[in-house]
Amino acid sequence: MANSKTLSSTFFTFLTLTFLFSFLVTANYYQNIPPTYLGFREEKLTHFHFYFHEVVTSQKPSLVIATEPLKGKSNCPLPFGSIVVMEDPLTIGPELDSKLVGKAQGFYISSAQTEGLELELVMGMTLAFIEGEYNGSTLSVLGRNAIFSQVREMPIIGGTGAFRFARGFVQARSVKVDYQKGDATVEYNVYVLHYSSHEDFN
Ligand SMILES: *[C@@H]1O[C@H](CO)[C@@H](O)[C@H](O)[C@H]1NC(C)=O
Repeated sequence: MANSKTLSSTFFTFLTLTFLFSFLVTANYYQNIPPTYLGFREEKLTHFHFYFHEVVTSQKPSLVIATEPLKGKSNCPLPFGSIVVMEDPLTIGPELDSKLVGKAQGFYISSAQTEGLELELVMGMTLAFIEGEYNGSTLSVLGRNAIFSQVREMPIIGGTGAFRFARGFVQARSVKVDYQKGDATVEYNVYVLHYSSHEDFN
Protein backbone atom coordinates (compact mmCIF):
# COMPACT_ATOMS: atom_id res chain seq x y z
CA MET A 1 0.00 0.00 0.00
CA ALA A 2 2.74 2.45 1.10
CA ASN A 3 4.79 1.43 -1.92
CA SER A 4 2.09 2.14 -4.47
CA LYS A 5 1.35 5.48 -2.80
CA THR A 6 5.01 6.50 -3.08
CA LEU A 7 5.02 5.32 -6.66
CA SER A 8 1.98 7.36 -7.64
CA SER A 9 3.26 10.50 -5.91
CA THR A 10 6.61 10.11 -7.66
CA PHE A 11 4.77 9.75 -10.94
CA PHE A 12 2.70 12.83 -10.19
CA THR A 13 5.86 14.84 -9.37
CA PHE A 14 7.42 13.61 -12.58
CA LEU A 15 4.40 14.71 -14.64
CA THR A 16 4.31 18.12 -12.96
CA LEU A 17 8.01 18.71 -13.56
CA THR A 18 7.78 17.57 -17.17
CA PHE A 19 4.86 19.88 -17.78
CA LEU A 20 6.52 22.85 -16.05
CA PHE A 21 9.82 22.26 -17.75
CA SER A 22 8.32 21.97 -21.25
CA PHE A 23 6.24 25.07 -20.58
CA LEU A 24 9.33 27.05 -19.58
CA VAL A 25 11.32 25.86 -22.58
CA THR A 26 8.45 26.73 -24.91
CA ALA A 27 7.83 30.13 -23.32
CA ASN A 28 11.45 31.08 -23.79
CA TYR A 29 11.23 30.54 -27.51
CA TYR A 30 7.75 31.55 -28.68
CA GLN A 31 4.32 32.44 -27.50
CA ASN A 32 0.96 32.99 -29.22
CA ILE A 33 -0.34 36.49 -28.62
CA PRO A 34 -3.37 38.34 -29.98
CA PRO A 35 -2.59 41.08 -32.55
CA THR A 36 -4.16 43.66 -30.22
CA TYR A 37 -1.39 42.92 -27.70
CA LEU A 38 0.94 45.02 -29.86
CA GLY A 39 -1.70 47.58 -30.74
CA PHE A 40 -2.66 46.11 -34.12
CA ARG A 41 -6.40 46.66 -34.33
CA GLU A 42 -8.10 47.86 -37.45
CA GLU A 43 -6.39 47.63 -40.80
CA LYS A 44 -6.76 50.75 -42.94
CA LEU A 45 -6.02 51.70 -46.52
CA THR A 46 -3.92 54.81 -47.18
CA HIS A 47 -3.19 56.43 -50.51
CA PHE A 48 0.02 58.42 -51.00
CA HIS A 49 0.79 60.63 -53.96
CA PHE A 50 4.20 62.13 -54.64
CA TYR A 51 6.90 62.54 -57.27
CA PHE A 52 10.18 60.67 -57.54
CA HIS A 53 13.18 62.40 -59.11
CA GLU A 54 16.21 60.85 -60.75
CA VAL A 55 18.77 63.60 -60.96
CA VAL A 56 21.77 62.80 -63.12
CA THR A 57 22.75 66.26 -64.38
CA SER A 58 23.68 67.78 -61.05
CA GLN A 59 26.76 68.42 -58.95
CA LYS A 60 25.43 65.63 -56.76
CA PRO A 61 23.70 62.97 -58.89
CA SER A 62 21.05 60.90 -57.10
CA LEU A 63 22.39 57.63 -58.52
CA VAL A 64 25.54 55.72 -59.39
CA ILE A 65 25.99 52.89 -61.85
CA ALA A 66 27.54 50.30 -59.56
CA THR A 67 28.10 47.56 -62.13
CA GLU A 68 28.24 48.12 -65.84
CA PRO A 69 28.75 45.03 -67.99
CA LEU A 70 30.64 45.17 -71.28
CA LYS A 71 28.39 46.97 -73.70
CA GLY A 72 29.47 45.02 -76.79
CA LYS A 73 27.15 45.80 -79.66
CA SER A 74 24.38 47.04 -77.39
CA ASN A 75 23.73 50.75 -77.41
CA CYS A 76 21.24 50.42 -74.60
CA PRO A 77 22.05 52.97 -71.85
CA LEU A 78 21.77 50.24 -69.22
CA PRO A 79 22.74 46.88 -70.76
CA PHE A 80 21.58 43.61 -69.21
CA GLY A 81 23.30 43.12 -65.86
CA SER A 82 23.78 46.80 -64.97
CA ILE A 83 23.17 47.66 -61.34
CA VAL A 84 22.27 51.18 -60.31
CA VAL A 85 22.18 52.39 -56.69
CA MET A 86 20.06 55.41 -56.00
CA GLU A 87 18.84 57.81 -53.36
CA ASP A 88 16.08 59.82 -54.97
CA PRO A 89 14.11 62.67 -53.41
CA LEU A 90 10.32 62.30 -53.11
CA THR A 91 8.45 65.58 -53.37
CA ILE A 92 4.85 66.63 -53.03
CA GLY A 93 4.73 68.27 -56.47
CA PRO A 94 6.33 67.52 -59.84
CA GLU A 95 8.96 70.25 -59.35
CA LEU A 96 12.22 69.12 -57.78
CA ASP A 97 12.19 72.12 -55.43
CA SER A 98 8.66 71.45 -54.12
CA LYS A 99 8.24 70.20 -50.55
CA LEU A 100 10.33 67.13 -49.73
CA VAL A 101 8.27 64.31 -48.13
CA GLY A 102 10.78 61.47 -48.19
CA LYS A 103 13.42 59.61 -50.11
CA ALA A 104 13.63 56.41 -52.13
CA GLN A 105 16.79 54.47 -51.33
CA GLY A 106 17.62 51.32 -53.22
CA PHE A 107 18.78 49.74 -56.41
CA TYR A 108 17.64 48.58 -59.79
CA ILE A 109 19.00 45.89 -62.03
CA SER A 110 18.66 45.80 -65.80
CA SER A 111 17.22 42.31 -66.10
CA ALA A 112 15.96 41.73 -69.66
CA GLN A 113 18.11 40.28 -72.43
CA THR A 114 15.81 41.47 -75.22
CA GLU A 115 17.47 43.50 -77.93
CA GLY A 116 16.20 46.93 -78.83
CA LEU A 117 14.92 49.73 -76.75
CA GLU A 118 13.19 47.67 -74.08
CA LEU A 119 14.43 48.46 -70.63
CA GLU A 120 13.09 46.18 -67.94
CA LEU A 121 14.31 46.61 -64.42
CA VAL A 122 13.91 44.77 -61.17
CA MET A 123 13.71 47.47 -58.56
CA GLY A 124 14.15 47.15 -54.80
CA MET A 125 13.82 50.19 -52.58
CA THR A 126 12.66 51.59 -49.30
CA LEU A 127 10.43 54.65 -49.32
CA ALA A 128 11.42 56.54 -46.17
CA PHE A 129 9.04 59.33 -45.21
CA ILE A 130 10.16 62.43 -43.31
CA GLU A 131 6.90 64.36 -43.00
CA GLY A 132 3.96 64.39 -40.61
CA GLU A 133 2.35 61.23 -39.22
CA TYR A 134 4.58 58.98 -41.32
CA ASN A 135 7.89 60.63 -40.44
CA GLY A 136 10.36 57.81 -39.73
CA SER A 137 8.22 55.04 -41.21
CA THR A 138 9.36 53.09 -44.26
CA LEU A 139 7.80 50.97 -47.00
CA SER A 140 9.69 48.22 -48.81
CA VAL A 141 9.00 47.88 -52.54
CA LEU A 142 10.30 45.08 -54.76
CA GLY A 143 9.18 44.36 -58.30
CA ARG A 144 9.42 44.62 -62.03
CA ASN A 145 9.68 48.06 -63.60
CA ALA A 146 9.44 48.08 -67.40
CA ILE A 147 10.20 51.76 -67.67
CA PHE A 148 8.73 52.34 -71.14
CA SER A 149 5.29 51.15 -70.05
CA GLN A 150 2.89 53.92 -69.23
CA VAL A 151 2.00 52.51 -65.80
CA ARG A 152 4.32 50.22 -63.86
CA GLU A 153 3.05 48.39 -60.84
CA MET A 154 5.26 47.06 -58.08
CA PRO A 155 4.27 45.28 -54.87
CA ILE A 156 4.82 46.62 -51.38
CA ILE A 157 6.27 43.72 -49.47
CA GLY A 158 6.36 45.19 -45.97
CA GLY A 159 7.24 48.17 -43.87
CA THR A 160 8.35 49.60 -40.55
CA GLY A 161 6.87 51.99 -37.98
CA ALA A 162 3.31 52.89 -39.03
CA PHE A 163 3.69 50.33 -41.84
CA ARG A 164 4.36 47.19 -39.82
CA PHE A 165 2.61 44.27 -41.56
CA ALA A 166 2.04 46.51 -44.60
CA ARG A 167 0.98 45.15 -47.97
CA GLY A 168 -0.08 46.94 -51.11
CA PHE A 169 1.19 48.21 -54.41
CA VAL A 170 2.66 51.27 -56.08
CA GLN A 171 1.91 52.63 -59.54
CA ALA A 172 4.62 54.63 -61.26
CA ARG A 173 4.03 56.90 -64.28
CA SER A 174 6.80 58.84 -66.00
CA VAL A 175 5.99 62.53 -66.16
CA LYS A 176 9.18 63.93 -67.67
CA VAL A 177 12.15 61.93 -68.92
CA ASP A 178 15.34 63.06 -70.61
CA TYR A 179 16.59 59.81 -72.13
CA GLN A 180 19.86 61.42 -73.22
CA LYS A 181 20.85 62.78 -69.83
CA GLY A 182 18.94 60.35 -67.66
CA ASP A 183 16.97 62.87 -65.60
CA ALA A 184 13.45 61.69 -64.83
CA THR A 185 10.38 62.71 -62.86
CA VAL A 186 8.02 59.87 -62.00
CA GLU A 187 4.59 60.19 -60.42
CA TYR A 188 3.88 57.63 -57.70
CA ASN A 189 0.51 56.51 -56.43
CA VAL A 190 0.90 54.22 -53.43
CA TYR A 191 -1.92 52.14 -51.95
CA VAL A 192 -1.06 50.48 -48.68
CA LEU A 193 -2.98 48.41 -46.13
CA HIS A 194 -1.51 48.88 -42.67
CA TYR A 195 -2.36 49.37 -39.01
CA SER A 196 -0.54 52.45 -37.80
CA SER A 197 0.70 51.11 -34.50
CA HIS A 198 3.61 53.22 -33.31
CA GLU A 199 4.12 51.33 -30.07
CA ASP A 200 7.65 50.35 -29.10
CA PHE A 201 8.08 46.71 -28.23
CA ASN A 202 11.57 46.76 -26.75
C1 LIG B 1 10.98 63.75 -38.29
O1 LIG B 1 11.60 62.97 -37.30
C2 LIG B 1 12.93 63.38 -37.00
C3 LIG B 1 13.54 62.35 -36.06
O2 LIG B 1 12.68 62.05 -35.00
C4 LIG B 1 12.92 64.79 -36.43
O3 LIG B 1 14.24 65.22 -36.15
C5 LIG B 1 12.28 65.71 -37.45
O4 LIG B 1 12.15 67.01 -36.92
C6 LIG B 1 10.91 65.21 -37.86
N1 LIG B 1 10.41 66.01 -38.97
C7 LIG B 1 9.17 66.51 -38.99
C8 LIG B 1 8.83 67.33 -40.17
O5 LIG B 1 8.34 66.32 -38.11
